[in-house]
Amino acid sequence: MYTVISRFVTSSQKSPLLRCSVLKPSTLLSFRSYSSDPFRVKQSQPKKDAKPTSKFGKLVKYVQSEYFQDKTMPKIYLSAIIVAFIPLYFYMRDRYYEDKQLKIIREKYANDPKSLSEYEYLALKSLSQTDKLRPLEQKKYKIYQLMRKEFRRKNFLSGEMFNPSPEELDDWYSKQARFSSKKKKAPILQDVSEEYKVNSDNSSIAAPEDTTDFYDAKAKEYDDAVKWEERGIFMGIRRRWLMSHVKGDVLEVSCGTGRNIPYLSSYIEKVRSITFLDSSKNMVEVTKEKFEKAFPNFKKVAFTQGKAEDLLKMAPDDNSLKYDTVVEAFGLCCHEDPVQVLRNMAKLLKPGGRIILLEHGRSKWDFINNHLDFRSEKRMKKWKCRWNLDIGELVDEANLDITLEKRAHLSTTWMLVLKRPEDPITLDEKPFLDKLFGRESKSFRK
Ligand SMILES: C[S@@+](CC[C@H](N)C(=O)[O-])C[C@H]1O[C@@H](n2cnc3c(N)ncnc32)[C@H](O)[C@@H]1O
Repeated sequence: MYTVISRFVTSSQKSPLLRCSVLKPSTLLSFRSYSSDPFRVKQSQPKKDAKPTSKFGKLVKYVQSEYFQDKTMPKIYLSAIIVAFIPLYFYMRDRYYEDKQLKIIREKYANDPKSLSEYEYLALKSLSQTDKLRPLEQKKYKIYQLMRKEFRRKNFLSGEMFNPSPEELDDWYSKQARFSSKKKKAPILQDVSEEYKVNSDNSSIAAPEDTTDFYDAKAKEYDDAVKWEERGIFMGIRRRWLMSHVKGDVLEVSCGTGRNIPYLSSYIEKVRSITFLDSSKNMVEVTKEKFEKAFPNFKKVAFTQGKAEDLLKMAPDDNSLKYDTVVEAFGLCCHEDPVQVLRNMAKLLKPGGRIILLEHGRSKWDFINNHLDFRSEKRMKKWKCRWNLDIGELVDEANLDITLEKRAHLSTTWMLVLKRPEDPITLDEKPFLDKLFGRESKSFRK
C-alpha cells in the first residue's frame, strides 16, 4: 500500500496538473520560468551570510523541499487513510456481529417463537418494513442499543453475543449518568409506565373537550376554511391513500363534511356497505348530501350522529354489527377520549379487519414539536384540535399493532394501518417474518 501511494505521489509530481493540487499558494508564487517548466518549484538557494530563519520559515522550507514531498507526504497520506479506516472497521465489525446474532435469532424463532428474549424479539421486529416497533418498544430498543455499544467495546475480542435480560438492562440503565437527579427505569413493554407517557406528561397538550357544538356551528363553512390549506400540502394524495384501504363493510368515524368521499369513487366496488358517523349532526348532513350526489345508486349507506366514545353502546347487543374496515381522518385530535375511541373501533372489527388512520400529531423532530406545543392553545381555540398529541402512544395504549406506518409533512401527518394483536398479518402486508425467512409462513391468512 505504502509503495503504491508513494509511487502515485512521485508520479503525480511529474504531472503539472496533479502537482498543482498538492502545492501551497506560497510555493506557486515561487515559480521561476513558465516557458521551460511552469510547475518546477524554485529551489531556494541559501544565501551565504543569511541568518537562520524563524521556526515557521524553516517549516515552510521543509514543506517545500523535495525530501518532504517525496518521503513525508506519502506517509501523511497513508496515515490519513488508516485513520479513516478505523471507524469503518468498527462499524463493519458491529454489522458482522449483528448479522451473526440475527441468524441465531431466526433459528430460535423457527424452533420456538416463545424462546426469544425481549431483546431478540425487538431486534427481529425492528428489521421489519411493515411490522413497526411501537413507540414504547422503540424507546426500549434504543436503550438496548446503547447498552450493546458498550458491550461490544468491552468485549472487543470475544465473539460473545449481546443478549441481556430486561433486569440487566434496567440495572445498566439506572447506572448511567444523568443531568437530573431523578433516576429512570427502562420502560416495561407490557405495562406502559406513566413515566414514558408523552401525552399525559406534556402540559402544552390542551385538555380534551366536547367539540360537538363547535363543529355544528362550523359545518357550513368548514370545507371553504380548510380547502386551501389542504391543497397547499397535497392532502388529497393522503386522503386517496386512506380510501384505497377500504373494503367490505366500512365505518368512517368522525366523517366531518365527507372530505374523503371524492376519493372513494375508485374503490367503491370493494365496498359492501358504508356507515358515516360524526358527533356533529350538521357535519353528518353535509356528508349525506355529498355522498348521495356522488353515488346516487349506492343504497347500503347509513349516516349516524353520535360520539365515537359511545360506539359500543350504539351497536346492537348481539354483536352482529362488525366492520371489515374502520377509517378515520383527523378525528383523534378532536375526541374527548381518543384511546377509548380506538378501543371501540377494535371491538367493532371483524376478525382480520383493519383500522386505517390519517391523523396529525407529534413529529419525529423536536423543533417541530416545539412549534406544535407553542401554538397548541391557538390551535385549540381555532379548531378545537389537539394537534400535538403523540398518535403512536394512543395506539400503544389502545393495545393495537401497527402493520403499516407512513409519515408526511415533516412527520406530523400519520398514516397508519392497525390490527388487533390476535389477528394474523396478511400476505399482502408482506410480513417481516417472510422477509427474514425467505418463505411464506403457513400461519398467515391469505
Ligand atoms: C377536524 S374534523 C375532521 C373531519 C373529517 N374527518 C375530515 O377529514 O375533514 C373533526 C371531526 O370529528 C368530529 N368529532 C369530534 N369528536 C367526535 C367524537 N367524539 N365522536 C365522533 N365525531 C367526533 C367533529 O364533529 C368533526 O367533524
